[in-house]
Amino acid sequence: MFLSPEEKAVGKENFHAAIGSKATRRDLLKKSIKAEVASGNGLGSMYFGYGDSVAEPVRVGVIGTGDEGSVLLGAINPKYIAVKAIADIRPYNVWRAFNGDLSSDAAHAARPGLMSVYGWKTEDEAKKNVKVYGPYQDLIANAKADGIEAIVIALPLHLHAPVAIAAMKAGLHVLTEKLMGHTVHECKEMARVSEQTNLLLATGHQRHYNILYDAAVDLIRRGVMGDLHSIRAQWHRGNLPGNDSWQMPMPKTVKPDDPQANVLDEKLKKYMAALEQAKAGNTKSVADWEKKVAQARAQLEDAVVDAKKFGYVDLDVKDDSGKVVYRRPAFEELLRWRLWDRTGAGLMAELGSHQLDAAGIFIHAMHKAHNPKAEKPHPLNVAAAGNRPLFPPDRDVEDHVYCVIEFPSPDYDPKDPSLQRQIAAVLVGAEENRRPVCIDQRQRFRRIRRNRLRHPGHACLGNREGRDAV
Ligand SMILES: NC(=O)c1ccc[n+]([C@@H]2O[C@H](COP(=O)([O-])OP(=O)(O)OC[C@H]3O[C@@H](n4cnc5c(N)ncnc54)[C@H](O)[C@@H]3O)[C@@H](O)[C@H]2O)c1
Repeated sequence: MFLSPEEKAVGKENFHAAIGSKATRRDLLKKSIKAEVASGNGLGSMYFGYGDSVAEPVRVGVIGTGDEGSVLLGAINPKYIAVKAIADIRPYNVWRAFNGDLSSDAAHAARPGLMSVYGWKTEDEAKKNVKVYGPYQDLIANAKADGIEAIVIALPLHLHAPVAIAAMKAGLHVLTEKLMGHTVHECKEMARVSEQTNLLLATGHQRHYNILYDAAVDLIRRGVMGDLHSIRAQWHRGNLPGNDSWQMPMPKTVKPDDPQANVLDEKLKKYMAALEQAKAGNTKSVADWEKKVAQARAQLEDAVVDAKKFGYVDLDVKDDSGKVVYRRPAFEELLRWRLWDRTGAGLMAELGSHQLDAAGIFIHAMHKAHNPKAEKPHPLNVAAAGNRPLFPPDRDVEDHVYCVIEFPSPDYDPKDPSLQRQIAAVLVGAEENRRPVCIDQRQRFRRIRRNRLRHPGHACLGNREGRDAV
């Protein structure tokens, strides 16, 4: 949301008026924030009342050390968690798990790598403390021998359920990344195994425990905001064909005709030239460029992965006449799994789920304002639509998705016919690019036809194969 400086100031004033004295609350927060930052524990642990440390850190294995797995490794507080093993089939992501992501300062802040988190000087030293496995099955099979109590799953979506279930059956607690599972059926099965084995199963959502959300919950529970009647949430990725962060570059040998086939080789060349220049100037940045070159080489090493061996599949997308309009090797499915229905579930799964998570938290807070014992309410109805006007058939997932999700309000009575008044609605949208586009009838017709090629007879996303983000 874009707010003017005046609107921001009014918002701040309203916030302080709602939470009580500006000075006391601010001073209190400032003091405790300073103390917690100095302790190295982070703000969350203070806010939610954890102690300084625990007698014995939880011993975990992390399965999937890609973009998000590496963020999780970077967020670990070594006082609470000991990483005993990692598993990933891509050499690049094993490299990043230890060394961090050096592609930019922001990337490095988010993914500093295990060596930095635990203070290990070299990768060899780190590997004495953390075992490295390829396929997830190997980590689970050796988990007990490695002293692991719990696993963290940051794998492509289609693997969350099978891996969580296999781990619980092997006696391990599980924290899996969102979405919990690929289908409602899978989620139910995961919950059933958790109950049967009496092991913890949790799903991680960015910002779920964000202290700002908790402050909003406090305001709602204290009735400051009154009842919620509508929540509008929007996630706009701003991506377009040729510029899509879910379509990351692959090593050239994997798919020589990919539009981004040369990107990684060119990056390596550029970094090597910069390294040579740094060496010539004998500057301090030699070490930095050496690390960047090492990262670029590691990324190209992914070419050795036989993705089919791990269940990923080739796909030929054909038009009505049987002509192949897109060829996807198995490796592309491993790397760009978000774009395909077999492995991912598109915008609502990857983005809208976070907004639904937040909406669920706030609606529950409203129910609790009326009844402190209120359970988290479930949605009553979901209506959704999605289409793909922007991207060509290089994916299954839609460009634009909108959902209206109706939750019961606190006075909801299923026997009362005047249900309208008893509903709190949530409108969630996620889209690739919202730039207004004028198209004439013919173009539109072509685009619709192209969509049909990918999804014959398919217009509604909300209950596709029972797959749903709620
Ligand atoms: N909590 C959040 O807000 C948040 C944010 C981003 C991503 N995620 C979730 O995290 C998960 C991972 O996303 P990502 O962006 O890190 O994807 P990614 O593709 O970068 O990482 C997935 C990793 O799993 C590895 N892998 C795949 N199959 C494997 C197998 N059989 N055995 C071992 N390793 C295997 C891949 O090599 C890859 O390194 C997804 O479910 C995503 O939705 C959550």
